[in-house]
Amino acid sequence: MDIRFEGAGVSFGARVALEPLTLALGEKRIGVIGLNGSGKTTFARLINGLTKPSIGRVIVNGRDMSDEKTAAPDVGFIFQSPQNQIILPIVRDDIAF
Ligand SMILES: Nc1ncnc2c1ncn2[C@@H]1O[C@H](COP(=O)(O)OP(=O)(O)O)[C@@H](O)[C@H]1O
Ligand SMILES: [Mg+2]
Repeated sequence: MDIRFEGAGVSFGARVALEPLTLALGEKRIGVIGLNGSGKTTFARLINGLTKPSIGRVIVNGRDMSDEKTAAPDVGFIFQSPQNQIILPIVRDDIAF
């Protein structure tokens, strides 16, 4: 996997979910740690395209995930809450997935 964040950040209105990040990740296993609400889930969702960056770009294996219509065929995702695995709480998210 080749994961690149180019100044990628996410805001929901005035709430900042993830400050803009620039990084390149190629390691086979990567752990992400942080306090509740620090942006871990938002970070993961950017990688598979379930969340789009409000600013900047996310490039996964050369594919620009910032494109509104792009999903990630090569990124699997296990949801934190199993009840959200198949039917997501928001219809828009379910269709996007
Ligand atoms: N869909 C959303 N709408 C509004 N705020 C959100 C949304 N998703 C996440 N946030 C906010 O963004 C911040 C980061 O959340 P999240 O990525 O879930 O953190 P973590 O997974 O590290 O607990 C939190 O303040 C959270 O409340
Ligand atoms: Mg989380």
